[in-house]
Amino acid sequence: MKNTFGTAVSLTLFGESHGPAVGAVLDGLAPGLDVDEDYIAHKMDLRRAAGAISTGRREPDEVEILSGVFNGKTTGTPLCLAIRNRAQNSGDYADNYGLARPGHADYTGFVKYHGFEDHRGGGHFSGRLTAPVVAAGAILTAALEKRGVAIGSHILRCGGVSDRPFSAAGTELTNDLRRLNAMDFAVLDPDAGAAMKAAILKAAEEKDSVGGVMETAVTGLPAGLGEPWFDSVESLLSHLLFSVPAVKGVEFGDGFGFADLKGSKANDPFVTENGTIRTKTNRNGGVNGGITNGMPLLFRTAVKPTPSIFRKQETVDFLKNENAEIEMKGRHDPAVIHRARVVVDSLTALALADLLTVRYGTDALRGD
Ligand SMILES: Cc1cc2nc3c(=O)[nH]c(=O)nc-3n(C[C@H](O)[C@H](O)[C@H](O)COP(=O)(O)O)c2cc1C
Repeated sequence: MKNTFGTAVSLTLFGESHGPAVGAVLDGLAPGLDVDEDYIAHKMDLRRAAGAISTGRREPDEVEILSGVFNGKTTGTPLCLAIRNRAQNSGDYADNYGLARPGHADYTGFVKYHGFEDHRGGGHFSGRLTAPVVAAGAILTAALEKRGVAIGSHILRCGGVSDRPFSAAGTELTNDLRRLNAMDFAVLDPDAGAAMKAAILKAAEEKDSVGGVMETAVTGLPAGLGEPWFDSVESLLSHLLFSVPAVKGVEFGDGFGFADLKGSKANDPFVTENGTIRTKTNRNGGVNGGITNGMPLLFRTAVKPTPSIFRKQETVDFLKNENAEIEMKGRHDPAVIHRARVVVDSLTALALADLLTVRYGTDALRGD
């Protein structure tokens, strides 16, 4: 069982979807970081279900901080936060135990935990566990922002519709990130956003679901972050991103697109301007040899279609070892990508806070 990640700054997750609460412990934080409850609530809103394209399970998501904060600042000791589950409806799941929901962890969880798992609503595997990730991420994101590091993601593709890619760099990219952080459906082109929402609603009408690809950019990072081999920037980030339920692919820079490029196009030429070294293009996504090169960090995350769909599906009853059919009840999003993006931003903040603290020490995040 491993629910902790991080070397210098670590995050531990606990809880189940239909238990009393979900929560997190952040350890290794610098003392004196701002803990702004309004900012945390704003980030929680970005993850929360809203409107017709989201699940009917509407949780208030009030974050209760139990330790590690005094007078609105971190103390430097473990910060424990909890979010009570209030809108769970376990009746939706009671009749179906033993029927493996396709695309979910019911069968694998049963095999691993020998039937002792709290299976209700996906238990510990539920998307609900991303709520404390976002609460913890908000504290780290605020600290990084104060230090000049900005993180933002948009839905690059969803339901067969594409958004425009990020602006290359500089103030245009900073403006893109600023705008995205205020949006609950994060797209750079509003027309593409409207078409994506229509595709999500259409999938819901057809008792189906859609996935997509998210694109993330980070600006303001110093060159020199990353610990090769095994704690390279790409290794840490992909470890964290693949922990997010429904994430099935991660690529940095041109990623799989490198397969079709010649070296002469794949390399980013270096230049120095006014004493600052940068690259003219950024196909490598701001990372060389697992270490940041000072250019914006760029990566994409593929999110699968929501596994809970309301069609009849083939499955097994793993308690009886018999073939069966399942028709789901409950409340589910026809897409989760719009809610996953603040989770991706939060785990990006964890990876970067950890790498900065490993390199510069505990006080690196203080920004003063
Ligand atoms: C923010 C978020 C919310 C999610 N909500 C749902 C949901 O309402 N219904 C559902 O079937 N899956 C939902 N998921 C995805 C499942 O939790 C996930 O696909 C499942 O646990 C199996 O894990 P895997 O896809 O990583 O293999 C959500 C994921 C995230 C990131």
